[in-house]
Amino acid sequence: MNDLLPDQSPAWQYLEGKFRQLMASYGYSEMRMPIVEPSGLFSRGIGAGTDIVEKEMYTFADRNGESLSMRPEATAGCVRAAIQHGLLYNQVQRLWTSGPMFRYERPQKGRYRQFYQFSVESFGMAGADIDAELILLTARFWKELGLTEHVRLELNTLGTLEARQNYRSALVEYLTQYESELDEDSQRRLSINPMRILDSKDERTQEIVKGAPVLQDYLDDESREHFETLKCILDAAGVHYVVNPTLVRGLDYYSRTVFEWITDSLGAQGTVCGGGRYDALVELLGGKPTPAVGFAMGQERLVLLLETLNLIPDSVNKTIDVAVVTRGEGVSGRAMPVLESIRNRLPDLRMQVNCGGGFKGQMKRAYNSGAEFALIIGEDELAAGTVTIKPLTGDEPQQTMDVNAVIGYLQAK
Ligand code: HAM
Repeated sequence: MNDLLPDQSPAWQYLEGKFRQLMASYGYSEMRMPIVEPSGLFSRGIGAGTDIVEKEMYTFADRNGESLSMRPEATAGCVRAAIQHGLLYNQVQRLWTSGPMFRYERPQKGRYRQFYQFSVESFGMAGADIDAELILLTARFWKELGLTEHVRLELNTLGTLEARQNYRSALVEYLTQYESELDEDSQRRLSINPMRILDSKDERTQEIVKGAPVLQDYLDDESREHFETLKCILDAAGVHYVVNPTLVRGLDYYSRTVFEWITDSLGAQGTVCGGGRYDALVELLGGKPTPAVGFAMGQERLVLLLETLNLIPDSVNKTIDVAVVTRGEGVSGRAMPVLESIRNRLPDLRMQVNCGGGFKGQMKRAYNSGAEFALIIGEDELAAGTVTIKPLTGDEPQQTMDVNAVIGYLQAK
């Protein structure tokens, strides 16, 4: 779990600002859900046999003995809230949220125990067009951030839950023949989550998996068609992708479309965005059957990627325009009414006052702050109702003028 320090926050704010803009431009509305939910929501929603629920949740009993968990992801909570507040009753919804998630994983670069996600969920739309919209809007996001060349899209379809169940039975039947040769984790998963065995890193298990039945042969026609339509829309929009038949994702609620955006520039933790369709989840959590599709992006990974590739514009790190430097005992306090009158007229101006310190030290701070101008105020200026403005870059000379003229000067700049 990390602290976010002041010199890091401009990059985060840049990312958040871009994302907020993106969501507005596609007509998505923000939701904010609690960080803590009843543990059962996650075991039912994400799946009791998943790594997330089995090994990674921060779970505790509250004072009433109720088992609560810190949310490991946002989808289950979003569905819970949407059902509870009647948002899904004969309506379509396009929703997004941003905030911390918690998973007890082994921390490493790009993987943390508290991490932030942008999470997007849409409800009430069954067609491949909304799947495409989500993928297109992420592609647009990469373009906005300058990341297009650094990420690739992998796609797969898992079929309906029924098709998956048929496949699961075939898979279990096949793997059971080799049960004693599977690695320990995979043996355990055989009865609870056999599809995860396909992801096993164990060499012998991988060999066995090579001969296993493939999901593609068990797909239902409608899911196949859905997937074809999605691919056609992406082709027409010029979005490149690779179909990866082994992409199953680590959460149980998916059916049909699943996708991930992956980068090779971050090392092992290269998935920056993952999502898919989850048509059965709303009903599973107590709502009326409602088609749904969504995704989440890892914000730490995106900030890391932008930093690694030097894609954060310099202007982002500039947080003040004007540094106020004062000369003389108590001048900074007495200058404040004047400064407030400047703020009244220039509400967007970012102006920081040096409260305390000698003149030289204050000037040094002004230069280091990245501000473009210093406003210098001493006893003389106070008495005359003027200020001295000194450009901190270039070779324009400093000028002393009355407050109205300074406002005009700053406005013009
Ligand atoms: P997920 O694949 O578990 O999906 O997480 C989505 C993204 O969150 C990952 O691709 C990664 O960028 C980031 N992430 C996950 N775990 C960590 C971690 N420990 N540290 C840093 N970043 C991490 C979901 O969470 C689904 N709820 C996505 C979804 C929404 N599907 C449908 N709707």
